[in-house]
Amino acid sequence: MSKWVRAHTNIALIKYWGKENEELIIPKNNSLSLTLDAFYTDTKVTFDATLTEDQLVLDGEQQASGVLKKVSTVLDLVREQAGIKTFARVESINYVPTAAGLASSASGLAALAGAASEAAGLTLSKKDLSRLARHGSGSASRSIFGGFAEWEKGTNDEDSFATPVDDASWDIGMLFIIVKDAQKDVSSRDGMRRTVETSPFYAGWLNTLDQDLSDMKQAIKERSIKKVGTIAERNALKMHATTLGANPPFTYWSADSMKAMDAVRSIRKEGYDAYFTMDAGPNVKVICRQTDMSAIKEQLITYFDEEQIISAKPGPGIHVREN
Ligand code: DP6
Repeated sequence: MSKWVRAHTNIALIKYWGKENEELIIPKNNSLSLTLDAFYTDTKVTFDATLTEDQLVLDGEQQASGVLKKVSTVLDLVREQAGIKTFARVESINYVPTAAGLASSASGLAALAGAASEAAGLTLSKKDLSRLARHGSGSASRSIFGGFAEWEKGTNDEDSFATPVDDASWDIGMLFIIVKDAQKDVSSRDGMRRTVETSPFYAGWLNTLDQDLSDMKQAIKERSIKKVGTIAERNALKMHATTLGANPPFTYWSADSMKAMDAVRSIRKEGYDAYFTMDAGPNVKVICRQTDMSAIKEQLITYFDEEQIISAKPGPGIHVREN
């Protein structure tokens, strides 16, 4: 009997943005993230000789075979390593409080890597699990670990994987602001490709990354929310600036994203250490102390509805779900 495996999502404080190798998913730069408790995916994989193709049942609904590309990439690698010839049924449940529309490839592909290797009887190290998850989605490589994790870009399939940096057992948390005015979708995969290929700002982004990364690691060591937040906010703004220089240009920001960023700046002026980051979508995440989260949430609900704000704390690494 195969087991359910749980992986939590992560949010990058130093972003992964651009691939050196598209096929192997080797990134252009190291990235560093915080794994969170509030959003996670449970997945079970069953290899089944009666199937004629891989199947994905997500939140109880069978998915069209078109969306299975990332899933089959991971399954193929597991089949190859385990000498399995049959197709698989993948059952997956995304746990997202409220209808947040926060589909997470990080937790989803990490849980799949764990569940597929478990079902195939492979006992992979965390490093090899991270490498496997990376093939599904780059950011998934970091969801193998709890707390802060760094994905070292490496140069090839063997040396590109995440490692734990700090267990985040200190006063840090994140508030998610789920905005309502969704932008037209540019997937992170397409967005980063277009940026690498066409944005004159991309070189500038890459130039400052090593500094941001070493500053961030030092800030984590010092457990300084001010420094972690300041560096993360700056890093996110630089990443988003590259998209405006792309051809054709695009942005993940909506009017409500700007409103959320302004709200965070105002809350900061009130004296709270609150900083924002954003990914390949319009939602805004607020980095702050756990002990300030309820006070900051109080302030945020003067701008947004209460159900648009979700609190998260540092979360654990991948593990077999207890029933
Ligand atoms: C902006 O991991 O979704 O969230 O490797 O193409 O599947 P693929 O991309 P993905 O990209 C995440 C980009 C980001 C920044 C980050 O999480 O580091």
